Amino acid sequence: MNNIIFPDIDGVLNVNDHSVPSVSNAILLLKEAEVLNPGAWVKHSENVALAAKLIAEKCGMDSDKAYVLGLLHDVGRRFGVSYLAHVYNGYQYLLDLGYNEAARIALTHSFNLMVLEDYIGKFDISIEKQEELRLLLASTKIDDYDLLIQLCDAMALPDRIADLETRMNDVKSRYGSYPQEKWDRNIELKDYFDKKCGTDIYEILNVSIK
Ligand SMILES: [Fe+2]
Repeated sequence: MNNIIFPDIDGVLNVNDHSVPSVSNAILLLKEAEVLNPGAWVKHSENVALAAKLIAEKCGMDSDKAYVLGLLHDVGRRFGVSYLAHVYNGYQYLLDLGYNEAARIALTHSFNLMVLEDYIGKFDISIEKQEELRLLLASTKIDDYDLLIQLCDAMALPDRIADLETRMNDVKSRYGSYPQEKWDRNIELKDYFDKKCGTDIYEILNVSIK
């Protein structure tokens, strides 16, 4: 995976963490990905990034890092319309660029229960690659940034940030079902960040419940 249109130019967010690109670099990477595979996923990614930034600001996390991780969580879609493959490809792509932490988020964002079966959609990669993902998930230590992007991914539509139920019902209508355990875990994640922020995150995000 070496067909980079924009060069990796302007460094990283801070000198102690070389695993996340700068905001401007992440924007370029997403723009490049959009050229390769345009779609609603780009606006969705921007909304994940915005939600992550706003929540991070409120709860004392690094908001630029949260923004970057949100922008790039689905960047595996640059290789074409795909399902589970976007997780595998995004992870490998960001790893190849040296952005290990962004790669980890590209892996963990689709698995809020941290098992492969958790994925909603087609398993469009080989059994060998599925096994690779399974092992990676079992050995990956997650932190609040993984949880934040999982949560924001479950709220971001292409045109707005919505409440969890609206977004999960949107997924349900497109894929036919939404596992109850995964649904409940998203509610838990919201509770976690409500407590961490000391307020209802829907207020931070200006989300009205339909
Ligand atoms: Fe996403």
